[in-house]
Amino acid sequence: MLHQHHVAIVGAGNIGRALIGGMLEGHDLEPSRIRASRRNPAALAELVSQFPGIQTFSDNREAVRGASVVVLAVKPAGAAGVLDEIAGELADDTLVISVLAGLTTAAIEAQIGRKIPVIRSMPNTPMIVDEGATALSAGTFADDDHFEAAHALFESVGRVEVVPEYLMDAVTGLSGSGPAYVYMFIEALTDGGVKQGIPRPQAFRLAAQTVFGAAKLVIDSGKHPAILRDEVTTPGGTAIAAVADLESHGLRTMLINAVATATARSKELGS
Ligand SMILES: NC(=O)c1ccc[n+]([C@@H]2O[C@H](COP(=O)([O-])OP(=O)(O)OC[C@H]3O[C@@H](n4cnc5c(N)ncnc54)[C@H](OP(=O)(O)O)[C@@H]3O)[C@@H](O)[C@H]2O)c1
Repeated sequence: MLHQHHVAIVGAGNIGRALIGGMLEGHDLEPSRIRASRRNPAALAELVSQFPGIQTFSDNREAVRGASVVVLAVKPAGAAGVLDEIAGELADDTLVISVLAGLTTAAIEAQIGRKIPVIRSMPNTPMIVDEGATALSAGTFADDDHFEAAHALFESVGRVEVVPEYLMDAVTGLSGSGPAYVYMFIEALTDGGVKQGIPRPQAFRLAAQTVFGAAKLVIDSGKHPAILRDEVTTPGGTAIAAVADLESHGLRTMLINAVATATARSKELGS
């Protein structure tokens, strides 16, 4: 699906680079079909050495000219200027995919000023290691083929869910911001091990692998996490003693509230 496209990444930073890597590995996309833009010439040269054969541009207009898919991956503050720059270069059937937090498909459509297909995405940083979680929603003029192309793009760097656009702030609070909560969890778990005398590098590796393995077991088995937790908690054993401690400190309520707070902040930033 993707290999038929010419894909322009406007703002090839962290997210853009992850997508380029995913397209090259996951879809056998000819490198010459990938066009990447950013302003810093040294960083553009680095991109070419990381991904030989891709085309790089410091001019966004040139980057998107002739592309069938354009991925907007600049920071939200730069989005309006970039859209103004490129609007005139987009064909009526160019698919615009945005990864920008808070920017609605309606706002992008309005700024482009034509009936152009737009898909909004909310990825997260584990896409850098091909384990991202991305939610997609379609704008007014995107059809199934456009969705399929966007799906293919983000599946090359992780897993994809389709959601109605009104849920994008909630997705930002859950999976968009979620890696931050998990890093805190890993850090705290590490400290727990260190407190009990485990050398820090080993505690860190054990903690990170425990989170990774537990997540993989949830995904691969399809079992409800509560069932998997029950399987670890032997009656009268160690895990149930710790679970009782976590419950008394409201771990679950804390996380539910954290997602609510991040969702509210996302709404605030987008308004
Ligand atoms: N990181 C996350 O966890 C995450 C999650 C979901 C969504 N997002 C969204 O993804 C977007 C990108 O995030 P990121 O982490 O990849 O940021 P990043 O690494 O800073 O990448 C943004 C890139 O845009 C380039 N850029 C800035 N202005 C430009 C312009 N006028 N023309 C062309 N390129 C320009 C910058 O390079 P130069 O300075 O060289 O131009 C930079 O490489 C953000 O809008 C964010 O909301 C991020």
